[in-house]
Amino acid sequence: MEPYWLCGKLVDYRGLLGEGCLRIAGGRIVELSKIPKPGEGVRDYIGKGVLVAPGFIDIHVHLRGLEQSYKETEETGGWAAARAGITLIVDMPNTVPRASTPDIVALKLADLSKAPVDHSLFAGIPESQDLEGVSRLPIAGYKIYPNDLLELRTSKVLREWRGLVVLHPELPESEMIIEEKVWSRGILRGCWMEAVSLEVVASVGPVSRIHVTHASCPATIVLAKKLGYSVDVAPHHLLYDYRDGDGCMYKVNPPIRGSGEKASLQQMLLNGVIDAVASDHAPHALWEKSDPLYCSPGIPWLEVWPWIIHRLVSARALSLGEFHRLVSRGPARILGLKDYGSLHPGARANLVVYNPNIRSRFEGPRHSMARHYPSIMQEVSGWPVEVIVGGVTVYYMDQPVHAKPGINPFTSRMLSRPA
Ligand code: DOR
Ligand code: ZN
Repeated sequence: MEPYWLCGKLVDYRGLLGEGCLRIAGGRIVELSKIPKPGEGVRDYIGKGVLVAPGFIDIHVHLRGLEQSYKETEETGGWAAARAGITLIVDMPNTVPRASTPDIVALKLADLSKAPVDHSLFAGIPESQDLEGVSRLPIAGYKIYPNDLLELRTSKVLREWRGLVVLHPELPESEMIIEEKVWSRGILRGCWMEAVSLEVVASVGPVSRIHVTHASCPATIVLAKKLGYSVDVAPHHLLYDYRDGDGCMYKVNPPIRGSGEKASLQQMLLNGVIDAVASDHAPHALWEKSDPLYCSPGIPWLEVWPWIIHRLVSARALSLGEFHRLVSRGPARILGLKDYGSLHPGARANLVVYNPNIRSRFEGPRHSMARHYPSIMQEVSGWPVEVIVGGVTVYYMDQPVHAKPGINPFTSRMLSRPA
């Protein structure tokens, strides 16, 4: 692809950077300039009422695939992300079969390459004999689920793996509780379960970097920070409390909690204590969500969630810079990817050009196979005009452009990875 210039009102985690132009070549931003240099193509958004920002990064998605391709696939989920302006996604290993052996992890990574956006995977905690084989693959790190927490294989990962480990902060007991209503879930799966799970990890004395995902309780965030761990929150814990809706649509793990927890989480987000927002996009078939006995947990946000969080910017509660820190710079730092999440020269040219002033209704997903949505998802502020991955347009004016430039950024980092 020929080098070109992309001009517009630039913004990233530092806030509004003013009008300027990015020179894009070889999939990267190679230069920033007030005006484009002559002789090369220009895409000019100056004066069009839009902002040019780093693409969003979602470090917690379930794209399913394998035997659960009836719920979502790497391709459908990848396109859902592209539509929303999310240009890097990290998939989770609670697949069927579980992605915790070299063969299945390799298969999942190959399937992820069908996504039009950049991608990687957190591997499940492997049995001891598989740790070396899985660690050699281009994974973003490992994921501890409640059922892994007290197992020897988990201590081994925490003591030997010098990369990132993501913790689902609950205890194994939380997965055994069957008889639950939405209002009682927060009590049966109390906040203490989150805090204790962090203490279990800390007691191993990990050499891994620890990240706590979808913290639903203020105390979890305080403890994570005290232990030097990074922490993200999910949109549902920020936006809902258990009075907002009952029934299966609102069932998630960890559970939606009370108005006090929700208000504290929002306050912590606005005060800059939280490192990222991550969706926990958890697609299920409609029959799994509509059968009250089955009732699979999770909300499928991927095609829309950044624009629900953007409502906080429109309401002037969250600054523009903080928004971009939470949805791109913060997640990039958690992943240890220095060349993602900013408009610095050298960064991968993953960009979202968006109109911040649009107020619209989300009429449902176009790509994601999960079709059940709580009503709060319908109110949207802001929407992408153009979504660019590695310098290539993948979505334009809310229409997919059938280019597939997605890469796994951890592939190129394999050589520099410590043993
Ligand atoms: O609500 C949830 N759904 N929480 C999880 O931890 C897993 C996820 C899923 O995979 O459906
Ligand atoms: Zn999850």
